[in-house]
Amino acid sequence: MESSNILHDQPLEFEFNFSSRLYRASTIMDERMGDGWLLYAPDFKGLPILLDDFSHDILNRFNHGAVAGEVLSASVSEAASSFDRTLDTISFLEEHGFLRNQPTKSSYADSAYTSPISSMSIWLHINSDCNLACPYCFVESKQHQVMGDEVQNRVAKAIAHTVREHSLTEVNLKLAGGEPTMDVALMECIRDKVGAELKNLDIRFMTSVLSNGTLVSDRLLDFLKHPMTSIGISVDGFREAHDIHRKFRGSGHGSWSIIEKNIQKLLENQIRPHIMTTTGKETLHTLPELLEWIFELGLSTRVSVVRNPNCSWDYTPLEKATYTAYCDQLEECFERALSRLENSSVPFDLANSLAVCELSFEYPAFSGVTCGIGRNHVVITTAGDVASCPMTVHEGGLPMIDNLLSSCKAAFPYSPMDRASLKGEEDCLECQWYPVCVGGCPVTNLRVNKIPFSKSPFCQFYKYFIPRYIRFLGKKLLQQQPVLS
Ligand SMILES: C[S@@+](CC[C@H](N)C(=O)[O-])C[C@H]1O[C@@H](n2cnc3c(N)ncnc32)[C@H](O)[C@@H]1O
Ligand code: SF4
Ligand code: SF4
Repeated sequence: MESSNILHDQPLEFEFNFSSRLYRASTIMDERMGDGWLLYAPDFKGLPILLDDFSHDILNRFNHGAVAGEVLSASVSEAASSFDRTLDTISFLEEHGFLRNQPTKSSYADSAYTSPISSMSIWLHINSDCNLACPYCFVESKQHQVMGDEVQNRVAKAIAHTVREHSLTEVNLKLAGGEPTMDVALMECIRDKVGAELKNLDIRFMTSVLSNGTLVSDRLLDFLKHPMTSIGISVDGFREAHDIHRKFRGSGHGSWSIIEKNIQKLLENQIRPHIMTTTGKETLHTLPELLEWIFELGLSTRVSVVRNPNCSWDYTPLEKATYTAYCDQLEECFERALSRLENSSVPFDLANSLAVCELSFEYPAFSGVTCGIGRNHVVITTAGDVASCPMTVHEGGLPMIDNLLSSCKAAFPYSPMDRASLKGEEDCLECQWYPVCVGGCPVTNLRVNKIPFSKSPFCQFYKYFIPRYIRFLGKKLLQQQPVLS
């Protein structure tokens, strides 16, 4: 293979075994696109690629399994291709998971929690106060609760203890609330304390602030200019749609015009915020305009959807039927958004611009869990208890112990090994998209299905979105470089 895809431009370091029998992976998505072929292996690391007819023909020669050396010599004599090109193509296909050394199994078996843990993220609920009053917010109590000194000290020590105990190499401290930027002094104090405890440990220590973006003071700018520090700003929809829910407590005014100015202010200060899009029934229709606005600013986003469609876990009858209409709406709005973004004038960084819900396109989620719940995503309340997830902070939690990974496991004592299929419905382990989706968010599933590791109520949307997004990536890839040859 002479040139390589921009996503896969590393030189091949692959030892070729002529006598090995290889099989075309049966899990791959393989479709005609432009003059070439769009290929994606959901169960193998990497994003989609585009192949030319020649490479695609080589791949198909392995449909029922074939010996690499035999395909090589047949192709050289029949297709008059060069030996080197054919060899490189087979190596490339194997290295990127399209060819395997054994037939792919028809069902994905969970291999939960088998990989060693090297990083930990800590969602610190530093306060409960907020200047906005988003009705869907899962932080149900907004009374004045602040993480006190004693809890801050315990948290800092527990982080360092856990790093030592598990030889972790990375800690990501997420300062959340409530609205953390209402108290920058508290943010500074907590980061300093954790930093001091981690000082002599060989660790990558990152801090991110999760904010509604309404309070960008000079003090916050200074905080963000510190190395390894970033900010995420929550946005619901474009302009008026954002203002439907993200209103100031008290005045009831929308917050869009302020956050728009503040995002500019951050950019002028060389701070590039990540946009945390939280979209729902009332705001979804503006997704196309919102995403275009984000990408034109050169920013990245994760689009999450409000999990409780009627804005409250209390009053919503969490029946699957409630989600059917929601999924239809998600499908319609994402279709419009992707069609619009497909325009070649919209800038798009394939690997970083867009993440959607808890779907994992580049790295198969073979832990069987879509996030670090119960494993290495530790959520600590203002009172110093450990909750299973930010969505369950208001339910309290378990008292924190020094080993935060043990606390994390105790707070969510479920295992993906206990995955169950819903009566009369498809088993996620039989689904082509399982490595991307793994059944969705376990907390939502627990609430809706009563089984955390089961089929997501958003399944209908995921089944539409996953292949559609792969096609979208293929089109953007095609705009950025021609098909491989
Ligand atoms: C609870 S807020 C705290 C930080 C900050 N106040 C903010 O708005 O970003 C953290 C994130 O949770 C999201 N969120 C709140 N309630 C949610 C819900 N019911 N479903 C999905 N996301 C939700 C918010 O949109 C925000 O992106
Ligand atoms: S700004 Fe954040 S914490 Fe405040 S109500 Fe909205 S989602 Fe909740
Ligand atoms: S929730 Fe649906 S899309 Fe996701 S793995 Fe299960 S069956 Fe597949």
